[in-house]
Amino acid sequence: MEISRVGVLGAGVMGNGIAQVFAQAGYDVVMRDIEDRFVEGGMKRIEKNLNRSVEKNRFTAEEKAAVLSRIKGTTKMEDLKDMDFIIEAVIENLDIKKKVYSELEELCKKEIIFASNTSSISITQLAATTSKPDKFIGMHFFNPVPVMKLVEVIRGIATSDETTQTVVALSQKLGKTPVEVNDYPGFVSNRVLMPMINEAIYCLMEGVGTKEAIDEVMKLGMNHPMGPLALADLIGLDTCLHIMEVLYCGFGDPKYRPCPLLKKMVNAGYLGRKTSKGFYDY
Ligand code: 3HC
Repeated sequence: MEISRVGVLGAGVMGNGIAQVFAQAGYDVVMRDIEDRFVEGGMKRIEKNLNRSVEKNRFTAEEKAAVLSRIKGTTKMEDLKDMDFIIEAVIENLDIKKKVYSELEELCKKEIIFASNTSSISITQLAATTSKPDKFIGMHFFNPVPVMKLVEVIRGIATSDETTQTVVALSQKLGKTPVEVNDYPGFVSNRVLMPMINEAIYCLMEGVGTKEAIDEVMKLGMNHPMGPLALADLIGLDTCLHIMEVLYCGFGDPKYRPCPLLKKMVNAGYLGRKTSKGFYDY
């Protein structure tokens, strides 16, 4: 299926990054969020990223202007009606996502493929809320989206081969490397990553080491670009907690129990970079 117009739902950290990479690859993008201030915030962030690329001579000022001109920010759902492909990156709440898909199904053409950038909600379950689960797939980007090469392509139980091939090819056109996985809690990425982050938080809670010590061990000893606590701040502590809860409920195995210190920080509103306070201050 030919894809030229792409809708992105959500202009937050992941949504604006996704809109940027599609526009850079030549697609016309409509980025929709529920309030003007979120749309404006997303557009500003994209412009800032592109400015840095111009400063570093990766883009000319004309190329930057062309990328920006391909992104239309909106709060109107109707602006997504002519899209060929829609990726959803809205808040990680099943009921909100369900509502969004049902609104889109009313509006969009029947051949449309829906992808979700969810970090852990079951693709099979999301797909089952739509009338065409064969045209539903997980397309999981990584933060910061313009930098990270991976797209985890998650097949739900009913996702067709055709839908999978389309999304694999689309990821390659974005200059990313798609990796296909099946739908189980946390997929591969967060099933492996989050228990490591959770364990680092246990180490902090139990006084095994300071935050700096824990991060330094993982950076220098394992060659990770950033330590697990700094990475948790980048991802968002609420997101980390949500993913641990999905793993814990999904497998019913106590090895996935979220660390009480993680819960405490989320309850305090210390969510990481986005609130300027997490394990570190920003
Ligand atoms: N947006 C866009 N570009 C960014 C960026 C951002 N938020 N942050 C950094 N960059 C770019 C910089 O401009 C720079 O590009 P350039 O050298 O071409 O100009 C490049 O990334 C490197 O940045 P810095 O030199 O400032 O800093 P570092 O070398 O320390 O790299 C990092 C920063 C890329 C964030 C690196 O530390 C890293 O790779 N960290 C690990 C990130 C990671 O693991 N992400 C996955 C999170 S899990 C996830 O997203 C899944 C979800 O479901 C939870």
